[in-house]
Amino acid sequence: MATFTHEPVLRQRYLDLLAPAMLVDGAVVVDATLGLGGHAEAVLEMFPNVRLVGLDRDPQALDMSRERLARFSPRVEFVHAVYDQIGESLDSLGIASAHGILFDLGVSSMQLDNVERGFSYSQVAPLDMRMNGTTGQTAADVVNTYGEHELIQILRNYGEEKFAPRVARAIIREREIEPFSTSDRLVNVVRDAIPAATRRTGGNPAKRTFQALRIEVNDELAVLERAIPAALDSLALGGRIIVMSYQSLEDRIVKNAFKVGTESTTPVDMPFIPESDKPWLKFLTRGSETATDVEVSENPRAASVRLRAAERIGDAA
Ligand SMILES: C[S@@+](CC[C@H](N)C(=O)[O-])C[C@H]1O[C@@H](n2cnc3c(N)ncnc32)[C@H](O)[C@@H]1O
Repeated sequence: MATFTHEPVLRQRYLDLLAPAMLVDGAVVVDATLGLGGHAEAVLEMFPNVRLVGLDRDPQALDMSRERLARFSPRVEFVHAVYDQIGESLDSLGIASAHGILFDLGVSSMQLDNVERGFSYSQVAPLDMRMNGTTGQTAADVVNTYGEHELIQILRNYGEEKFAPRVARAIIREREIEPFSTSDRLVNVVRDAIPAATRRTGGNPAKRTFQALRIEVNDELAVLERAIPAALDSLALGGRIIVMSYQSLEDRIVKNAFKVGTESTTPVDMPFIPESDKPWLKFLTRGSETATDVEVSENPRAASVRLRAAERIGDAA
């Protein structure tokens, strides 16, 4: 029996936000990032009549959550899918819409701890980082083949790396001597490329480069841009969507996607808002919510979380 150490981030807040939408007979929750099934387990325990559909692009995560959630078996469906395929996934199960949808973005502790997956900068591992196992380009492909301009863009935009040009140039210099294959060499090259004064603060300097590579390898932002509108399309009237992001670009995508439904484009001086332009989504959070100091001290992963939630209140035009 595997042990599950991943403590679900903002567990109670998530359940409280979901609760009003769970009163419907036959309520369905989609956990779009099933991971180790921590949030899913909390839902299935808290709402005994709810059915849960768990999606993950990582087959290993699905195997582990299948084991964890076995005792709820008639109420859980597991789907191997990328989360922009929520609509197709529900269709394949004959489900018209969902009353709760959760995204808990990023990587799971299992993916980080599993050395050969190559997500961790603190252990010697192959530069892989593919969430779906074995298809598509690896992190090694990115560092060994991308041009300087592309590397700078990725490091700057996805990793928020202030020294992106220095890191990109160091990568290119080193790969000409020998292509990168493992994390340790990349960690050393990044560390040496960053000014010594900065290196002394802010943890491992390779953290930002590894985050950038992970986002690029898995095309995470483009998938998220498609996924939130797809999820909103699948949300039942009165249904609630909750998204936990850990990085500002992700959070911005979520905020903008929600705005499409919460704002009317009718000029303020118009005497009335036409039916077709009425907001069909309502914010349940004021801006984004963060975790309390107590939660962060118990669960370090909560340190950078930003939670946004919304409720479907009408039909989109
Ligand atoms: C932070 S973990 C989720 C943890 C989960 N909430 C729990 O309590 O155990 C994120 C999960 O989302 C999955 N994931 C990331 N991007 C995905 C995508 N585009 N489509 C489907 N799953 C994805 C990852 O494989 C990982 O298992």
